[in-house]
Amino acid sequence: MVEKIKTYIEDLDKILDGGIPEKNIILLAGSAGTGKTTLTMQFLCGACSNMDEKTLFLSLNEQDLKLVENFKSFSFFNEDWINKNKLVLVDVRTAIPADNPDKSVFKSVDVLNFIYEQLDRYKPKRLVIDSISAICKRFDDPDHVRKFLFDLGNLLLFKGCSAILVSEVEPGARRYSNFGVEEFICDGIIYLDHIEKNYRLRKTLQVVKMRGCKHSEEQFLLDISESGIKLLKLMDH
Ligand SMILES: Nc1ncnc2c1ncn2[C@@H]1O[C@H](COP(=O)(O)OP(=O)(O)O)[C@@H](O)[C@H]1O
Ligand SMILES: [Mg+2]
Repeated sequence: MVEKIKTYIEDLDKILDGGIPEKNIILLAGSAGTGKTTLTMQFLCGACSNMDEKTLFLSLNEQDLKLVENFKSFSFFNEDWINKNKLVLVDVRTAIPADNPDKSVFKSVDVLNFIYEQLDRYKPKRLVIDSISAICKRFDDPDHVRKFLFDLGNLLLFKGCSAILVSEVEPGARRYSNFGVEEFICDGIIYLDHIEKNYRLRKTLQVVKMRGCKHSEEQFLLDISESGIKLLKLMDH
């Protein structure tokens, strides 16, 4: 029996038959505005609130750190956790030395060392990288991407933390990654998308794969409100 951990998104835990397998790596793929950052933040905050666990959010996007301002309006978020280092938010771009002055190229060994140091320092039970696509786009060679992803997979396995890696993909393309390697280091895939329904743009969620688990294969509507993410049956709304 695989041990499950709750995502603390109640509806998602239901369709995953309890949650995601502990110490697994989940790829959360979707285009801009589909709710990726909100879902991952609720995943970390749920653990801060219910499990007294340390959590780490590695951001490649300055905007996402500014989002903390927005997260204050969510009932699942508590700014105190940041002050107490239970929810650690780190801007990877400013922390990693880059080869060139505009910091557009990363060396994979620097990124891996950086992630290793953060895991050693904070010992988080849950990790989010938002996004893995933004890291990989900064390597100047596809071989570096492949090597980095396999090394990252091994590092996370070794450190034993449950991770969500965010993958930014084109809208509606039904691709889960940019380099085609991300899927292979991940144990599960959750896909977020937009659909147009009754002249409205609606967010959707579908569990594509979850290793060793029984899960729903249905596409759900995903609604975001101050209380967090809710999933609704597509045909009912
Ligand atoms: N407090 C909120 N109430 C309702 N909807 C929200 C709220 N905050 C964000 N959203 C919705 O979430 C979207 C952005 O979600 P986000 O998690 O940043 O997506 P992504 O990371 O995939 O780009 C917004 O465009 C908006 O539709
Ligand atoms: Mg985002």
